[in-house]
Amino acid sequence: MTETQYLDTHYTNYKEYISAERIQQRIKELGNQISEDYKDKCPILIGVLNGAFIFMADLMRELTIDCEVDFVKISSYGNERQSSGNIKLKKHFDSDVDGRHIIIVEDIADSGRSIRFLEEMFAHSKLASLRFVSLLLKEGGAVVDFKLDYVGFTIPNEYVVGYGLDDAQKLRNLSSIYVVK
Ligand code: IMP
Ligand code: MG
Repeated sequence: MTETQYLDTHYTNYKEYISAERIQQRIKELGNQISEDYKDKCPILIGVLNGAFIFMADLMRELTIDCEVDFVKISSYGNERQSSGNIKLKKHFDSDVDGRHIIIVEDIADSGRSIRFLEEMFAHSKLASLRFVSLLLKEGGAVVDFKLDYVGFTIPNEYVVGYGLDDAQKLRNLSSIYVVK
C-alpha cells in the first residue's frame, strides 16, 4: 500500500503539500550549506523532540563534517493545534556545551515561542555559537521576535502533518508533508 492509499483509507482531510522528493532535495541543500559554514568545526546538533527527529536524522546524513548529536524535549501544544504559549522542558540535553558550536534543529516555527525558549535555555552557557535550523517556517504566525539561520520551506499559516509533524501524536510516520484540506 502506498502512503497516499494509507492516508486515504484512514483520513479524508489531508492533501499532499511538500513531496518526500522535494523535502530530501531541500535537505541536501541545507546540509551542503551547513557543511560549508561549519567547515573544520564539530557542531553539536540538538534536535527538538518529538517533531524534529526525522528531519534531524536526514539532515545529519547530508553533513560532510564531524558533528555530534543530542536532544531536548519541550512541549507547548499538548494535543491541540494551537500553541498554548506555556512551554515546558520535558528533557534536558546531556552534552557539555561550553565552548561548543550548537545548532538547534526544529521541525517548524510558528509563534516563535519554542525558539525563544530554547535560546533562553542557553543564555548562561558559554557557547562558541548558537544557530537555529527549522525545516518549516509558518508565515505570519510570529507572536515573539525570533530568528532562524536556516529554513527549509516557508509555508502559509496552516496546520501541516507528516515527516515528524503530528496531529494529536499521529501521522509523524509519513514521508511527505500534508496540509489539512
Ligand atoms: P511555536 O512555539 O509556536 O513556534 O511552535 C513550534 C512547535 O509547535 C513546533 O516545534 C511543532 O512541534 C508545533 N507545531 C507548530 N505548527 C505545527 C503544525 O502545523 N503541525 C504540527 N506541529 C506544529
Ligand atoms: Mg517541535
